[in-house]
Amino acid sequence: MPPGHTGGRESIDRHEIHLWCAEVPPGCEDSALYADQYATLSDAERVQLERFHFDWLKRRYLTTRALVRSTLSHYVPAVAPAHWEFEPARHGRPELVNPHPQAKALRFNVSHTNQLVVLAVGHDRELGVDIECIARKAPLSLARRSFSRIEQEELEALAPDRQERRFWDLWTFKESYIKARGLGLSLPLDAFSFRFDDDCSVRLELDASLLDCASNWQLWQYRLDGENLLALCATRVTDAPTVVSLRVAQPMRAHRFIARTPSRLSHPTATQDRP
Ligand SMILES: CC(C)(COP(=O)(O)OP(=O)(O)OC[C@H]1O[C@@H](n2cnc3c(N)ncnc32)[C@H](O)[C@@H]1OP(=O)(O)O)[C@@H](O)C(=O)NCCC(=O)NCCS
Repeated sequence: MPPGHTGGRESIDRHEIHLWCAEVPPGCEDSALYADQYATLSDAERVQLERFHFDWLKRRYLTTRALVRSTLSHYVPAVAPAHWEFEPARHGRPELVNPHPQAKALRFNVSHTNQLVVLAVGHDRELGVDIECIARKAPLSLARRSFSRIEQEELEALAPDRQERRFWDLWTFKESYIKARGLGLSLPLDAFSFRFDDDCSVRLELDASLLDCASNWQLWQYRLDGENLLALCATRVTDAPTVVSLRVAQPMRAHRFIARTPSRLSHPTATQDRP
């Protein structure tokens, strides 16, 4: 087994997506864990780690890098956590560049709040994940500036006490879509809309200018706890239903499954392109 590998093994099929969540430790009490996670970093990542002024940002950066590296090694044990190589694509999305044949089909995307890091892993499909702490005040003015007209109208039609929750539902889905496309904020936020016909479904609508088709995409949203909302957007790759499963991890140590039912998801036929 390559050095630094913790021995866990995972496999992922084309119809699966795995979500891995790791808590950013509140302090640096566990020096052995810190050392094991630090050992996975590349030279450039060690330089970057030292650039952060605040300790919590250092801890979050280390947790993120160790989560990505150690988790990818669960799927491809022949590559040690320290041996994964990444290159940023045109709009900044990190991509795997390892030549190992099993690594070629792996896709991943990362999101973080101050306390949590989430990693989505899939097989040969585009993925975007976003997590937001929804305990803070929603910046509703941003919706007026950036969301699509229909999203703004539907948000403003809600009772004031429901607008904040709707904002975060929209924000996390919008972020997950732009991350799945890998285009960052070069994608106009008002050119696509998320519609909610009831409390547990979601429907994507796209302007023709985006040269994309809404039925290409599947969507899920999870309330991880009272404070954190997660949205996932992924390309539809098989006719079989996609199975999403969640794990809680302590990078370079342990992980366990957790059962969660999505609070919202797209129905296979509930997508629609705007003409
Ligand atoms: C960079 C961006 C992709 C996500 O930024 P964010 O919400 O601040 O951060 P998140 O924690 O969700 O995601 C950051 C991770 O996304 C990944 N990422 C970076 N660029 C990416 C891109 N173009 N596409 C997909 N993922 C990307 C990286 O892995 C990054 O983590 P890392 O730097 O630790 O590796 C981009 O969408 C952005 O700048 N958003 C700003 C917020 C905003 O205005 N959102 C509008 C939503 S309505």
